[in-house]
Amino acid sequence: TTARAEHRPRYHFSPKAHWMNDPNGMVYYKGTYHLFYQYYPDGSTWGPMHWGHATSKDMVRWEEQPIALYPDRLGYIFSGSAVVDVNNTSGFGKAGQPPLVAIFTHHDPVLEKQKTGKHETQSLAYSLDEGKTWTKYAGNPVLPNPGISDFRDPKVRWFEPQKKWIMTLATKDRITFYSSPNLKTWSRESDFGRDRGAHGGVWECPDLLPLTHNGKPVWVLIVNINPGAPNGGSGTQYFVGDFDGKTFKPYTDKTKWMDYGTDNYAGVTFANTGDRTILMGWMSNWQYAGVVPTAPWRSATTVPRTLGLREVNKELFLTSEPVEELDVLNGEPISMKNRKVENRYELTTQNETGLFRLDLKAPNPTDFAIVLANDRGNEVEIGYEKTANAYYIDRTQSGKTGFEKGFGKRHIAPRLSTDSTLSLTLLVDVASVELFADGGLTVMTDIFFPDKDLTRLFIKSARGITFTDLTYTPLKPADEA
Ligand code: FRU
Repeated sequence: TTARAEHRPRYHFSPKAHWMNDPNGMVYYKGTYHLFYQYYPDGSTWGPMHWGHATSKDMVRWEEQPIALYPDRLGYIFSGSAVVDVNNTSGFGKAGQPPLVAIFTHHDPVLEKQKTGKHETQSLAYSLDEGKTWTKYAGNPVLPNPGISDFRDPKVRWFEPQKKWIMTLATKDRITFYSSPNLKTWSRESDFGRDRGAHGGVWECPDLLPLTHNGKPVWVLIVNINPGAPNGGSGTQYFVGDFDGKTFKPYTDKTKWMDYGTDNYAGVTFANTGDRTILMGWMSNWQYAGVVPTAPWRSATTVPRTLGLREVNKELFLTSEPVEELDVLNGEPISMKNRKVENRYELTTQNETGLFRLDLKAPNPTDFAIVLANDRGNEVEIGYEKTANAYYIDRTQSGKTGFEKGFGKRHIAPRLSTDSTLSLTLLVDVASVELFADGGLTVMTDIFFPDKDLTRLFIKSARGITFTDLTYTPLKPADEA
């Protein structure tokens, strides 16, 4: 076997080498999931942005493809989305073949220096060979900048009731909605959010998506923010409300967070996945992404997550759960009923990779923690604290933490569910843990860099706790599944 790059995930996508950040242009087309991403092929820190490209049949086993979009005379290729233009509204299609159209931000570094505030514009590229090669539209940019210094990350979707495209765009401290009949000419519809939500940093990478609740359509507006997240650095807030093709109206003013860990940023959803709404994020944080101890690769995506809605105390919350496609990774599960844990319970396994999934249920839980460990004294602790009614991930002792002063911290998330039974799913890869608690109502994603793989696993509870269900499933690396 060939040597593995240190800390490189084994079932999350990461480019083999060099820097990546946001996932871009995610779209499902003809049996293939396409992931594009902010990519700098000449270095392992952020630089002139390209769109890297990877494809997969199941969102789990990814194949890296040639770079899709290179910087050009209009600038770097920043974040954006892709759609299947089924009705060929753009006219880019040929003989019954609908085009894939990418809508992205051109970021002009020369104009940026001149401080005109007009260096970000929206542009198009299209593909007629199922995403393999892309042609930039000769009429770029299609949406010039009105003088807003942060004017980027267009997420476009078809709005069927009014037969038009809606672009959700991050415009500094708010979201601006635009509409278009053909992706080429855009009209401003409305602004949202100047006086709503969290404003600890600039608004980026939005997504407006429909879900249903009790048979009725409900719209969720995802807004990434950097900095200003609850546990520091960059993170993802969201609003739940109505959208009428022109304006978005949130039901309440409460600020809600999609993920309370520090390592799920710039997440947006795939286009063209039918009834399913699937999100992937960038599994890092602008606070330290450029200095994490990895080489030659830098950064990965989160696992794909199915989004849904759940009502708690008359409020609607977003839920995120790992997609079932991940089950291809499952090894032979070890299941236990009514597992009592007093002090410490070692989950001894034959799994030397350290990759696993853990599912558990605890009625009326007391404090407990799941601990990932090695024989070097490194530990990552994922737990629940009854008095605070909160989940946490503690990576203060996780190994290499000194590369950035804010990295070695304990992160806290409120338990939103009011169910007396706590349930959770953990997904652990070489350098990450993703916690989905209470059907995905409270989610935490954290990365870590131990001195040696964390292949030991135990559960501890000083007061004692009983898990009515406890299932440990070893996971195979994606390239062995
Ligand atoms: C978010 C972001 C986007 C921008 C891209 C640049 O992480 O800052 O707003 O388009 O990254 O790489």
